[in-house]
Amino acid sequence: MKTIFSGIQPSGTLTLGNYLGAMKHFVDMQDEYNCYFCIVNEHAITVPQERLKLRENTKSLAALYLAAGIDPAKSTLFIQSEVLAHTQLGWMLQCVSYIGELERMTQFKDKSSGGKEGVSSGLLTYPPLMAADILLYKTDIVPVGEDQKQHLELTRNLAQRFNNKFNDIFTVPEVRIPKVGARIMSLQEPTKKMSKSDENQKAYISMLDDEKKIVKKIKSAVTDSEGIVKYDKENKPGVSNLLTIFSICSNRSIEDIENEFKDKGYGEFKQAVAESVVSVLKPIQERYHELIQSEELDDVLDEGADKASFEAQKMLRKAKKAMGLDRAKKKK
Ligand code: TYM
Repeated sequence: MKTIFSGIQPSGTLTLGNYLGAMKHFVDMQDEYNCYFCIVNEHAITVPQERLKLRENTKSLAALYLAAGIDPAKSTLFIQSEVLAHTQLGWMLQCVSYIGELERMTQFKDKSSGGKEGVSSGLLTYPPLMAADILLYKTDIVPVGEDQKQHLELTRNLAQRFNNKFNDIFTVPEVRIPKVGARIMSLQEPTKKMSKSDENQKAYISMLDDEKKIVKKIKSAVTDSEGIVKYDKENKPGVSNLLTIFSICSNRSIEDIENEFKDKGYGEFKQAVAESVVSVLKPIQERYHELIQSEELDDVLDEGADKASFEAQKMLRKAKKAMGLDRAKKKK
């Protein structure tokens, strides 16, 4: 059975983009693969976090994973900081990474565009930690949204470099990006990706937004003045984004939706988009509110950390040996 690994940062409530681009696919893949899903809180601290908020977001993300359908009987769900091998291998892979290649990462460039004095060095060394996450579990496939593609290419390079330099121990993982929904766009600036760190709350739908908020945000989504419901990413990015969201949430093809709304205006179209989003998020939210109160969550996370640690330790030991970080013991 092939292994998949993926992670999500607990840096705020997840958006519809996180769900449609990543989490939804994790749920679909559980039956076919040996799965590890991680709450990457050590990645989250590469930008300032408030201690209590981070703890709360970590637990909340765990509940969302389960509410969305991750089944702990099939998948290993755990918190990154509870499996020490991640930062240990992360450090070793930092020593295999070049500053130049890390500085070329788009995410680092974007986040440090305001000057390098105020950004943490963790933001630069974020990708080798991500590579460690993945490589510890002999991961074959990493399902992610499009924005993580560059980090995955770097992970593959680091794995190959390590294998060539030291010992051939790492599986070189494949990236799996969904055909539709890999880049859900901002509702206010549809040429920019939907992001949970957007200052404008109208730009994204949070997975925990109630029905009223969802309808309001979609109704105020930026479109164009043409008034025709048609997929054209270049010229009609707003409408195309809504069509993508509608298509995934309703399980219908974009052509089918275009046909239905051929002679209808954006008002009616947006109402239908909002209803499809509500129909997907509402059941998840109901389960979420039950789970966040329960003790079940801690049991799942404890068990997940144990299972992940057991696997990760085996690979860490091999990697240390390959680099000479183990001790040559005198024979007695
Ligand atoms: P993060 O927390 O930013 O996002 C989690 C997942 O959601 C996807 N995503 C989107 N997909 C479609 N449309 C969007 N607007 C959108 N925004 C986010 C992301 O591509 C991602 O799959 N570095 C990672 C976390 C990470 C990780 C890993 C992922 C750490 N270690 C190992 C995979 C494997 C991140 O910041 O994701």
